[in-house]
Amino acid sequence: MSQKKKRSLTGLKPTGNLHLGNYLGALRPALELSKSYDCIYFIADLHSLTQTRDAQALASQVLDQVATWLAIGLDTDKHILFRQSDVPSVTELTWYLSCVTGHGLLEKAHAFKDAQAKGQEVNMGTFCYPILMAADILLYDTDVVPVGKDQKQHVEMARDMAGSLNAAYGELLVLPEPLIQEEVMLIPGLDGRKMSKSYNNEVPLFCDEKTLRKKLMSLKTDSTGMEEPKALDGSTVGDLFKLFATKAQYDDLSARLAKGGMGWGHAKEELFVAINDHVKEMRERYVACRKDEALLQRELAKGAEKAQAVASQTIKRVRQAVGLR
Ligand code: TRP
Repeated sequence: MSQKKKRSLTGLKPTGNLHLGNYLGALRPALELSKSYDCIYFIADLHSLTQTRDAQALASQVLDQVATWLAIGLDTDKHILFRQSDVPSVTELTWYLSCVTGHGLLEKAHAFKDAQAKGQEVNMGTFCYPILMAADILLYDTDVVPVGKDQKQHVEMARDMAGSLNAAYGELLVLPEPLIQEEVMLIPGLDGRKMSKSYNNEVPLFCDEKTLRKKLMSLKTDSTGMEEPKALDGSTVGDLFKLFATKAQYDDLSARLAKGGMGWGHAKEELFVAINDHVKEMRERYVACRKDEALLQRELAKGAEKAQAVASQTIKRVRQAVGLR
């Protein structure tokens, strides 16, 4: 008999307009795990409520994310894709965990400390964000949680909370581990800084070709004249090109730029072609899926049912252990 695969769980908040940084840094590596893990992916709509007040946008961004996972090739028959709020027992588990978690632990959370340092108003949802996240992880008997460095602390907190509940009631919950995605690369944005919505320097993942070209043409380059030799290495054009071109293509462009007589505009055109070639098929699938609401709803219903089957076992176990019926 083949050994049972370990379970990995990935949660992403629904946000509009995913960009190339989200794709290369989060979506693609998470999808890659489906080759070796039993994977659960979910759309963290409950988490979004700590910030958003736009109900319509939230509902539509959930569908955007479903279409995105399908477009990049997630097999929802082999793995689970679901919407967090479709399994409401996650909020019930949040309560059980809250009752064994010290206030002091949450005060140490980076997100809370940052918000406080900036003088932002912190609602209870934001303060308790790590408990809801722990419930996400623990409800599905998760072995590993792929995260960037910024989310590592949250997974460790989930582990602490599972440990507290287990210490009080016996072995109930699986202790999860963060799977740090070391090679998650730094994706430069149009101004050379890390690609991020907050810097307004992002290249959208699924915009139409015309917009994609225009975006890339606006990429900041130095002002060396057309005739002068240019170095692709260390330039933002080069750093982005590297992510989408083969080594041979990169070396070739690099050599032509170094000879002189080639402007950055031409190099950016080649960058556009490389990126467009890479995303074209996914974009077509995305557009087709996003239009097909019936398909998206079917996928959500299928995911909810599969996720519910796992969650109901865990929540039953916990309810009984704590003395509820
Ligand atoms: N906090 C994560 C983020 O900001 C989203 C998330 C919610 C999550 N619950 C999770 C990630 C559980 C991994 C596991 O992107």
